[in-house]
Amino acid sequence: MKRIILQTVIIVAFLFTCSLCYSQNKGAINRKWWKEAIVYQIYPRSFKDNNGDGIGDLKGIISKLDYIKSLGVNVVWLNPIYSSPNDDNGYDVSDYRNIMKDFGTMADFDTLLKGMHQRGIKLVMDLVVNHSSDEHEWFKQSRSSRTNPYRNYYHWWNAERGKPPYRYSLFDVNHDAWRYDSLTNAYYLHYFSRKQPDLNWENPKLRSEVYAIMKYWANKGIDGFRLDAFQFAAKDTTFPAFPNGFEKNFSQYYAMQGNLHGYLREMNKQVLSKYNVMSVAEGAGNSLTDAHNLVDAERHELNMAYPFDGVDIAKPDGYSLLHFKQVFSRLDSAFEKKGWLSVFLANHDQARMVSRFGNDSPEFRELSSEMLTTFIMTMRGTPYYYNGDELGMTNAGFTQIEDYRDMATLNEYRHVKNTGGDIPQFLKRIAYDCRDNGRTPFQWNETANAGFTSGTPWIQVNKNYKTINETDEEKDPNSALNYFRKIVKLRKDNLVLVYGRYTLLDKQNPDTYCYTRVLNGRKFLVMLNFSAKTAAAHTGINLSKARVLIDNYNNPSKNGQLRPYEAVVYEVK
Ligand code: NOJ
Repeated sequence: MKRIILQTVIIVAFLFTCSLCYSQNKGAINRKWWKEAIVYQIYPRSFKDNNGDGIGDLKGIISKLDYIKSLGVNVVWLNPIYSSPNDDNGYDVSDYRNIMKDFGTMADFDTLLKGMHQRGIKLVMDLVVNHSSDEHEWFKQSRSSRTNPYRNYYHWWNAERGKPPYRYSLFDVNHDAWRYDSLTNAYYLHYFSRKQPDLNWENPKLRSEVYAIMKYWANKGIDGFRLDAFQFAAKDTTFPAFPNGFEKNFSQYYAMQGNLHGYLREMNKQVLSKYNVMSVAEGAGNSLTDAHNLVDAERHELNMAYPFDGVDIAKPDGYSLLHFKQVFSRLDSAFEKKGWLSVFLANHDQARMVSRFGNDSPEFRELSSEMLTTFIMTMRGTPYYYNGDELGMTNAGFTQIEDYRDMATLNEYRHVKNTGGDIPQFLKRIAYDCRDNGRTPFQWNETANAGFTSGTPWIQVNKNYKTINETDEEKDPNSALNYFRKIVKLRKDNLVLVYGRYTLLDKQNPDTYCYTRVLNGRKFLVMLNFSAKTAAAHTGINLSKARVLIDNYNNPSKNGQLRPYEAVVYEVK
């Protein structure tokens, strides 16, 4: 009897140890759907117009669901579609539970969500709650009297106290974030435009309202939230004076302040943890530690960080690949053990990826765009890919201020003018980096307005739409579009590209970026030439037996020589 008990104990202990090993092994890569996702970002205003008013809409997106599915992506992030007076293209929400008139109706939204889910695509919504629109009912109430129950939903400074300590506004024409309101003789705070007053996160009532809004959308079945500008949400409401010139480094004073982490933990407890949703915050503080603290799973805050360190590298006079490699390698190592990253080179706030990081000349546009796509799809974090980049769409080519629509740019233009600044210089800079470059209509075909609208587009279509458009690229097996589909498939088919350990090779090479990704005995080698000339990469890996998984020239050499903007992914022993 004793023997049987002993044997049973041994067997149970053995099984327990095995299951522990298994879960630890599993834990080593800790699989999650949002880590394995490929996010395709849609800027609804510019994607597809269905009703001919010149503005993209939900029905337009619905009409393109099969196209989106054909890309192979499995998550769509939609920029804000809530009711909005559109001071900042939807980033000024006047009703969080309704759809912007320009974009359609709630019935359209329900159809869109259903259509995505039927195609195996998840939907991530933008959540804009650092600020609302000044046309939101909360703000209307708040400004109506000092004793209104909504007064503390926003930040007010009564004028009899004198002028409040200076706060920098990113979008205001004078860069002053305090706006005087004569109705109650007080100033309200707006880090962005005057029409985007900052919400008071220190007020628990406001926080509950936001969580209820999140639940409303989560109950509809959406799959995640992108938290707009959330790193700025918590504030020291005593508004101490900041040192002169702080605005040059405003993020040090605005990001990750006060009880931000407390609010995130509360949001996680009350909403995020209750649904199978992913969460990503725009911006990731001022250091890798800040970024890490947002998404370390043990802290129960958010899922993944979206730091700007990468996109900030490109400047009008170029960028150094050594710097680029250093930034992305540092990011990777900071998240190697815990937390998770997003990887991206563009979004709706950036100029076009190929014009900033690649080479948009006719000779190299497609090749360099494919090379950058290869980079995004072979790094460890979740790829975020901006609509139109799969075609290799380029910067807008605007030459005069009248071409631009972005409120922040137009305000900055007025500011430069008012302060006697250099206007030609300003126009040159925005031609390179204004976010309208990434907001021109999606180029579907070579008919009028690139097939985006039958009306007058809200912003001009890029003049190159007759040579760069989806319909033409569909027909060409070597197009940027078809390359995108192939590399998306490669990533989805190979967990090594999602979870594999990243090692940088040939670190000091100024032209090439090479790295390996290793998981469970499989080793992938990624070789990218970021330059317009042939370049030799010294990886120390013998390529004679390497298997080519994808390449953008179709016949890669095996001697480490990379042609201009060549991209190759090998499986090596
Ligand atoms: C970041 C968004 O991405 C940007 O488009 C917007 O203007 C600001 N936050 C303000 O909401």
